[in-house]
Amino acid sequence: MSKKVAVLTSGGDAPGMNACIRAIVLACEREGHSIVGYKHGYNGLLNQEYQALDSSMVHNLTQRGGTILHSARCEAFKTNDGAKKAAENLRWLDIDTLIVIGGDGSFRGAAHLAKFWSGQILGLPGTIDNDINGTDATIGYFTAIETAVQSIDKVRDTADAFERIFLVEVMGRHAGFLAMNGALASASDYVILPELFESEETTLQDILSQLSEKREQRGNVSYIIVLTENLWPGGINRLVSQLEAKTDTDVRPVILGHVQRGGSPVSQDRLLALKLGAHAATLIGTSANLIMVGEKNGNPVEVCLPDTWAEQKPLDNCTVSTLKMLINNRYA
Ligand code: F6P
Repeated sequence: MSKKVAVLTSGGDAPGMNACIRAIVLACEREGHSIVGYKHGYNGLLNQEYQALDSSMVHNLTQRGGTILHSARCEAFKTNDGAKKAAENLRWLDIDTLIVIGGDGSFRGAAHLAKFWSGQILGLPGTIDNDINGTDATIGYFTAIETAVQSIDKVRDTADAFERIFLVEVMGRHAGFLAMNGALASASDYVILPELFESEETTLQDILSQLSEKREQRGNVSYIIVLTENLWPGGINRLVSQLEAKTDTDVRPVILGHVQRGGSPVSQDRLLALKLGAHAATLIGTSANLIMVGEKNGNPVEVCLPDTWAEQKPLDNCTVSTLKMLINNRYA
C-alpha cells in the first residue's frame, strides 16, 4: 500500500548522505510511495520547512558531498514541547514513515519524537565518526579516512623536508576510528586515540622514547603523530609546546577539522549509502519501527535504535593489533 514518507538529514553532515537520499527517493517512487524532504534536520520538522522529492531532483546526486536537505543540530527539538510540535506537524502532513539519516544524537532525537508520534521511524547511520553500534561502518566514514590519509601524505612531504615533528588532529568526537585508520593508512609514526589512551605522562614518554630510538637509528627524521580531537588535556597546542620543550625540535600542528566532512564520497560510502537507503525503503509500511538499518558483513541488519548508542562502539581487534604491531608498538 502506498505510504507518505519523509526523510531528513541531521547532525554532522557526512559524504554519502546525498547518495542515501537518492536511493530512498528512487526506491520510494518505484514502490508508489510519495516522499518529502524536511530541510535543516529536525528544525525543518518544527518549522514545516519541507519540499516534495522525486527522481528528477536526485539526478547526479550520488557523487555530491554534503546534503541537499541541509543539516543542523536542533536544541528546541530536545524539549517535550519541541517534539510535540514536530509530531503535530507530521500528523498535519499525514506522514506515515519518517527516515532519519544521522548519528547517535539524531537517533536519540528520533526516539524522543516516538513518545509523541505513533508513525514509523527508521534510522540510517550517517556520520564520519563511525561511532554507532550495530553497523560495521557508517555513511561518510570511508571518505573521511581518505581525506585524512591524503592530507597526512601531504604533511609527510613537508615534514620530511624539514625533519620536523607534526601533530595532525583528526575528528571523531570521542571515538578513535578515524585516527586509527588514518594513521595506519598514512604510515604515521604514532596515534593518540581515546580507546587506547592511558595518561598524558605515559603517552609523552612513549612518543619520546620512540622518537629517540628512530633518531639514533636514522639521524634526524620527520615524525608524524595523529591525535584524536577532544582528547589531549589543554588541546593540541599544549601538546605542541610539551613536545617542543622536550625535543628541541620544531613541532607544527595541523587541525584537519571540517575538511573531513566534505568532498565527493568514495565508492565505499556511495555503495553503503545506496544499499542502506534501498533496504530502508523495503521496510516502509512493515512492522519495523524505531530501528536503524546498518550493515554487518556485507548484509543489511535492523538494530533497535537504543542499542545503537547504549554502549561505546569498540574498535575492531584486527586493526588494533595491526596498529600495535606497526605504529604504537608499546601496546604490543
Ligand atoms: O559528528 C561529526 C563531527 O564532525 C565530529 O567528528 C565533530 O566532533 C563534530 O561533528 C563537530 O561538530 P560541529 O560541526 O557542530 O562543529
